[in-house]
Amino acid sequence: MRAHKIAVIGGDGIGPEVTAEAIKVIRAAGVDIDTTDFDLGGARYMRDGEILADGTLNELRAFDCILLGAVGTPEVPPGVIERGLLLKMRFELDLYINQRPFVGTAPGHNESHEFVVIRENTEGPYVGEGGALRVGTPNEVATQGSVNTRFGVERCSRHAFELANSRPRKHLTLVHKTNVLTFAGGLWQRTFDEVASDYPDVNTAYNHVDAACIYFVQDPHRYDVIVTDNLFGDILTDLGGAVSGGIGLASSANLNPARTGPSMFEPVHGSAPDIVGTGEANPIAAILSAALMLDFLGEGAAADGIRSACAEPVTGTTTEVGDAVAARVRN
Ligand code: IPM
Ligand code: MN
Repeated sequence: MRAHKIAVIGGDGIGPEVTAEAIKVIRAAGVDIDTTDFDLGGARYMRDGEILADGTLNELRAFDCILLGAVGTPEVPPGVIERGLLLKMRFELDLYINQRPFVGTAPGHNESHEFVVIRENTEGPYVGEGGALRVGTPNEVATQGSVNTRFGVERCSRHAFELANSRPRKHLTLVHKTNVLTFAGGLWQRTFDEVASDYPDVNTAYNHVDAACIYFVQDPHRYDVIVTDNLFGDILTDLGGAVSGGIGLASSANLNPARTGPSMFEPVHGSAPDIVGTGEANPIAAILSAALMLDFLGEGAAADGIRSACAEPVTGTTTEVGDAVAARVRN
């Protein structure tokens, strides 16, 4: 088998540190990867103004997958790198599924939970619909719409049903706010119900997003697979991380399940500029994101080995944790 071609965007802050550990662990697991580094992120933008040029985006299309650390620096105003780099990749590469698995024991509980959030990744309030007028004046007006298409909601729901159908519990919960966001909520609920008829073995449920926040803390065991809108999924998955051992363990896959281009894998956490170079950054989220990448590349056995190696407690600096996990997967 040929080596998997991986584009590596270490990015800013702790991104490059945790990504280096993830690559170390992939190699220790015996998977043949051919990596190419892309110098992108806030630091690059400050240096020469490039965020993600179309030429660079086209180069990325030639890879099997993209492994990303974290992007964003305090010197760059909020939104510039997020929209110009991360969201641009999600939209342009049609990474319409953001899959985030959670395993852990929530505070105050004795038994561990295990569930997956499927977050729609190319629509909703993230598309940037709207605008502002008379900015900075007392007459300022700002609107920010949410775009939901039947096509987008259906393909996301279908992915979630497929996943739920493949798991032992076969349970899928739609999370939305259909009691207030009646236009988008109606589309989501009707589409979800129609797709459900193709999956008679999957049991379904519905929770409003505010109630889901309570259940994440008080009763996370009720969940198997969750499917939700882009912004609800963003917020809910930070909470998912917080009740599953902390955001330092939370991994994610930005998938183009149609495989018309590379998928992208990244930890849920940010660039944490306050701890750069201290060795405090936990590389486990990046390592588990690399395991999700290996699943997608058909290297399931190596991915399972990495997940087992991460399940045992490990402490130390960023590189010590990476070395310890690498040593476990080698054995
Ligand atoms: C995430 C992040 C991003 C998002 C930011 C950095 C744009 O919070 O991946 O969850 O909002 O999707
Ligand atoms: Mn987020």
